[in-house]
Amino acid sequence: MRILLGAVLALLLLALGGGAYIYSGAYNVAASDAHAAFVEWTFHKTMHNSVEEHAEGIDVPDLDDEQMVTQGARAYQQMCVSCHLRPGLESTVLRQGLNPQPPVLAEGGHWAPAEQFWIVKHGIKMTGMPAWGETHADQELWEMVAFLQRLPGLSEPQYFALMETQGGAAPQNDGHDHNHGDMSAMMQDSSQGHHAQSEETHDDTAQQNHHGDNGEAQAESAKPASAQEDDHYADGHTH
Ligand code: HEC
Repeated sequence: MRILLGAVLALLLLALGGGAYIYSGAYNVAASDAHAAFVEWTFHKTMHNSVEEHAEGIDVPDLDDEQMVTQGARAYQQMCVSCHLRPGLESTVLRQGLNPQPPVLAEGGHWAPAEQFWIVKHGIKMTGMPAWGETHADQELWEMVAFLQRLPGLSEPQYFALMETQGGAAPQNDGHDHNHGDMSAMMQDSSQGHHAQSEETHDDTAQQNHHGDNGEAQAESAKPASAQEDDHYADGHTH
């Protein structure tokens, strides 16, 4: 009886302590504040096991389809580069401030395609990784996953050439009928300042692409704000 009472009392103290900690505001939620090692470990393990568990039983389509890879490359250039970089881009202003830092997807990784699909579709809570399934059909998400299989090992010219392979549509046009928002300001290499895109040196293919990018970007930002549906963080400066 006495042991039981002791245990209940200990639990009560723990709960009170926890509550006091939460309400005191002592915990630092700043993204600029590094996690304690055990917190980092806990989050990482939790995320890892959760993805493995949830991705079980997902059927993977044929990811070698060239058209899928091309479409996926265009989508990646529009929506993922600002956080996950691309061959030839070292950093961006958006990426630099994120905690956790988005992994460099060109370096490959340990996730199987079904797990990548699950992550891309559902996102990861409290990390900045969006749930792209809220706005994209599964087919479009598989295109991104197909491209992710190809990405590791691509050189910068190969990366840009891949987007050109079908019909030569500009990378800004990924064939969907909605506006993805102009994230070009955040895709710029933050180590080179804001004009990095036009100053970078590429081979001809890449250069053309960049000029295409810039043209599109300017055209987009010239639109009235109301026309920029999902451009909530389009310019990266005024908010
Ligand atoms: C706003 C930043 C941001 C954008 C944009 C973004 N991601 Fe992420 N993504 C993250 C972060 C942060 C993580 C790491 C989460 C973690 O460590 O728990 C992540 C993780 C991932 C992972 C798991 C990789 C690994 O090795 O753990 C994949 C795959 C991924 N993202 C794909 C994409 C794709 C594809 C796109 C574009 C459609 C995209 N992401 C756009 C922030 C972003």
